[in-house]
Amino acid sequence: MKLPESVNVLLLGSGGREHAIARQISLSPRTARLYIAPGNAGTAALGTNVELSPTHFGTLKQFVLTNNINLVMVGPEEPLVKGIYDFFHEDSDIHHIPVIGPSAAGARLEGSKDFAKAFMARHGIPTAAYRSFTKETLDEGRRFLETLKAPYVLKADGLAAGKGVLILPSLDEAKEELGRMLEGKFGAAGNTVVIEEYLDGIECSVFVATDGAHYKILPVAKDYKRVGEGDTGLNTGGMGAVSPVPFADDVFMEKVRTTIVEPTVEGLRKEKIDYKGFIFIGLMNVGGTPYVIEYNVRMGDPETEVVFPRIESDIMELFEGMAHGSLDRYRLKIDPRTATTVVCVSGGYPGDYTKGFAIEGLDTPCESIVYHAGTAVKGGKTVTAGGRVLAVTSLGDSIAEALEKSYRTISGIRYEGLYRRGDIGQDLMKLE
Ligand code: AMP
Ligand code: GLY
Repeated sequence: MKLPESVNVLLLGSGGREHAIARQISLSPRTARLYIAPGNAGTAALGTNVELSPTHFGTLKQFVLTNNINLVMVGPEEPLVKGIYDFFHEDSDIHHIPVIGPSAAGARLEGSKDFAKAFMARHGIPTAAYRSFTKETLDEGRRFLETLKAPYVLKADGLAAGKGVLILPSLDEAKEELGRMLEGKFGAAGNTVVIEEYLDGIECSVFVATDGAHYKILPVAKDYKRVGEGDTGLNTGGMGAVSPVPFADDVFMEKVRTTIVEPTVEGLRKEKIDYKGFIFIGLMNVGGTPYVIEYNVRMGDPETEVVFPRIESDIMELFEGMAHGSLDRYRLKIDPRTATTVVCVSGGYPGDYTKGFAIEGLDTPCESIVYHAGTAVKGGKTVTAGGRVLAVTSLGDSIAEALEKSYRTISGIRYEGLYRRGDIGQDLMKLE
């Protein structure tokens, strides 16, 4: 679908990713009005936040019709897995309004690890060898574990808020955890468990925009998931990110394109899966060969905070190409500089933390883009409202230069309990 010259956009979501998407949308000369549901204190400065849930499709329909929305951009996975694309597509009142994101069938690439693994097997896409098990086949699962080498990788099939993957050093622990997962440790998400071979390498995230037939590969990024320095401690939603990634050079990216991106887009087309959205491919570089660790059906967070600010071409035209099937005609222009983002979190995150602390220093001019993640406006003040609070992005001619700016900006920001990792990008600097 072609968009009108002036576009009214509804963006769904409320994190740093959505602030980064909102900023890029607001830079487009074609943007008329921008609404964000529900948004945060950062998006409120770029458009109008509306108190709507991204998964209440009926309410969204009313909003879209009342406010003459021309495009819906979906940030998080939940509405996609729940079928927002199909809801719009199948309702004659709103089927003319493009939704950027896959159909529910496509969203299974993220919503079901078992589906994703079988899809890769069908299309010859390199990934770790695996088998899936249920309660009924627990004993077989235990025997399968005996055939593998340590460490052991167990994955709950369904969405488990990023917590459904266990990597276990000993066979006994792996057998025990398999039992616990199949008995409901992760609820229904663990009714099926994927056991897979461990891949030893360094990870990166590749983002692809597709209209279902053509594709564009966006800048590659690396994120830092653990809360502690040196990649220690609990997994989080992401503590920082860097783009580009020095080891993902042209030779590596050409392998990614031919062995992973093309067969993925082609596989979706052959299986008649409607997919006009972003594909986020989590990759392991094993001695120069890329393997898929996981698919997500949306942009990453905090990766978007380093990928989107490097996109110099008009994001609205990218969305239009995706919705209209004319992505082959889109000219993607990328800022060659390096972007880094450092995430400031609430003290205690990813465990318990307190919200509602006033954030000081946000109005001071700085060399960074301060994306809001978990913030809200209370009594005219910006306050903390989540675990990840801010993502401070900077551009530079090297990782070191960009990071220096991000850390300098953070030193001028204060709220009670502020924590950030001090070692984002250190591993990559050695490779630069
Ligand atoms: P996922 O939710 O599938 O991205 O898995 C979470 C994290 O577990 C990944 O980011 C990897 O660091 C790790 N991981 C997942 N699968 C494997 C594997 N087969 N080999 C090594 N590490 C893995
Ligand atoms: N940064 C990882 C994710 O968005 O899932």
